Amino acid sequence: MIDLDLISPLRSGDLIITVGLPLSGKSTLVKNCSEYMPNVVVVCPDTIRLALHGNQFIGRAEPFVWAIAQTMARTFLMQGNTVIIDATNTTVERRKMWVYMAREFKKGLTIYHVKTPADVCRERNKALGRLDESIIDRMEEQFERPLADEGYVFTAAQVESYLYTPSYPFREATLPSPNL
Ligand SMILES: Nc1ncnc2c1ncn2[C@@H]1O[C@H](COP(=O)(O)OP(=O)(O)O)[C@@H](O)[C@H]1O
Ligand SMILES: [Mg+2]
Repeated sequence: MIDLDLISPLRSGDLIITVGLPLSGKSTLVKNCSEYMPNVVVVCPDTIRLALHGNQFIGRAEPFVWAIAQTMARTFLMQGNTVIIDATNTTVERRKMWVYMAREFKKGLTIYHVKTPADVCRERNKALGRLDESIIDRMEEQFERPLADEGYVFTAAQVESYLYTPSYPFREATLPSPNL
């Protein structure tokens, strides 16, 4: 059993995914990470949607969005980048493709769980008017907490404390794949 207190949540060459409701602060956290480590690449389905069709969401384009996200992630992992998937990833089913991809690259998946409560997300959305509130409600309802059998789970607070503590204990190479 690996003690997560002793390993860094941001290791070179890893595959990392975020888990959190819309407006929980995923993109903000990920941006901080990418500023901290030079070879981090962020793959964000929201940005892919804008690049592909210019809209927030078009249902029939979703298979393409996810195919592009996976191809980008695989490409950057092959190139040796650290890849962060900036998406809600709120269910076990949604996270499976990343669990499998980490395994394909013989890495353990790293998961950043951004636990901001749904009410705070709704408040932020009210102020920003970013999306239909029912989307947050639906994601809250279907939410499945990421567990240790999916990957190495860190809270946003743990990741942040790492970013702001240069003497964090270890920065070892990629961990072995856990027995999934
Ligand atoms: N730790 C935080 N404390 C307060 N506000 C935050 C925090 N992280 C993000 N925010 C704010 O919440 C809003 C949503 O953040 P964002 O990172 O875009 O969320 P997400 O990517 O999960 O949708 C932004 O206005 C951002 O400035
Ligand atoms: Mg975001």
